[in-house]
Amino acid sequence: MRSFPDTAKVNLRGHLDIGGCDAVDLAKEFGTPLYVMDEATLRERCRRYIKNFHSYYPNSAVVFASKALSTVGASRIIASEGLGFDVASGGELYTVLKAGADPKTVYFHGNNKSPKEIKEALELGIGRFVVDNEWELANLDKITRETGLRAHILFRINPGIEAHTHEFIQTGKIDSKFGIAQDQLDSMVQLVGKMKLVDLVGLHAHIGSQIFDIKPFVAEVELLLGLITKYDLAEINIGGGLGIAYLPQHNPPSIEHFAREIGQALKDKTMAKLVLEPGRSIVGTAGVTLYTIGGTKYIPGIRKYIFIDGGMSDNPRPILYDAVYDAVLGNKPEAAPEEEVRVAGRFCESGDILIKQIKLPKVEVGDILAVACTGAYNYSMASNYNRVGRPAMVMVNEGDASVVVKRESYEDLILNDTL
Ligand code: LLP
Repeated sequence: MRSFPDTAKVNLRGHLDIGGCDAVDLAKEFGTPLYVMDEATLRERCRRYIKNFHSYYPNSAVVFASKALSTVGASRIIASEGLGFDVASGGELYTVLKAGADPKTVYFHGNNKSPKEIKEALELGIGRFVVDNEWELANLDKITRETGLRAHILFRINPGIEAHTHEFIQTGKIDSKFGIAQDQLDSMVQLVGKMKLVDLVGLHAHIGSQIFDIKPFVAEVELLLGLITKYDLAEINIGGGLGIAYLPQHNPPSIEHFAREIGQALKDKTMAKLVLEPGRSIVGTAGVTLYTIGGTKYIPGIRKYIFIDGGMSDNPRPILYDAVYDAVLGNKPEAAPEEEVRVAGRFCESGDILIKQIKLPKVEVGDILAVACTGAYNYSMASNYNRVGRPAMVMVNEGDASVVVKRESYEDLILNDTL
């Protein structure tokens, strides 16, 4: 079942089964909407990254971009597979450390890290700050001198490469909130050279997300390679971005292919350490969201709507990016598709449409809709719009399901309200 986790199958009861757990039983036991994460898929993606990069370019490290999914339970699994973490806030840092990550494996990102976050991260002994601009560099200089703690940093540069799913362009575009323009790098390198407790060890760039073409990554690697050679630096960090198949017809490159091309672009040309920061391609396909179908509505001559008990607050990607998703009915995944429907969420926005058009078997109230590929940027971007609590998340593995995030109750929703 392409787009669904590796363990997904139709079980003897004719239901969708993930990680050895029946989707209908999961919905009954834990309620819906429910985020289901398949541990085997998650571990397999981590292993595939580590194995392939180590084989094509041994001096490499894989760090998971925790913005894609920040929970203690998932981070613990990812850390146990030997990955480090990219964090973009004090909250993400707190989460990965609670999960037992080694602070030395943490890369701290962001274009506006607060002095408080910088100080805390220094005291916690994180591995690298990815410095985005001159303001941050000045803060680091000040805070390292005040605390006597040393910071190891990478500069994030603006590579002037924009990658989209099917094409890429080299723009030389300097109008971005992220990163240092290449013609300002010289002066930044000079600045850091005068700092007593700030050491520049490498360069970072990130060219986009959900990318299906390897050429822009190779262009990025070549650019970074030229720059680290020029400045005699030891680390190249290429960010994240590899795409995944949200729909069966999507055809992203494999992790192996990606590793081979990047490895070849670097091999025998440098001794530098390669770091990469995949997010979506680690957790995306491991996740499935289960919803219960409530009402339906037919507008004659136009279309049929089916209503689910979640929507834009648990998955804001369709309303934000026109993102597309595949789905099956969890209680009858093999029934023949019969009708074109539009899947609408429950929130007070006309744009709260999870799937614009999908062919499903005849839909009945109480059916379970299982939406594939929701492991990345769903829970991490969820909100409490309309004061709807965020769903629970269960990690499934070999027939066991354990709650890794509890469902938010009404009490949780007013927890921080004061009179
Ligand atoms: N490293 C850096 C510095 C990043 O900014 C990002 C993603 C990543 C790594 C991980 O990229 P990935 O491998 O997941 O593509 N909310 C959007 C995606 C935003 C990505 C932001 N940066 C979405 O839902 O499609």
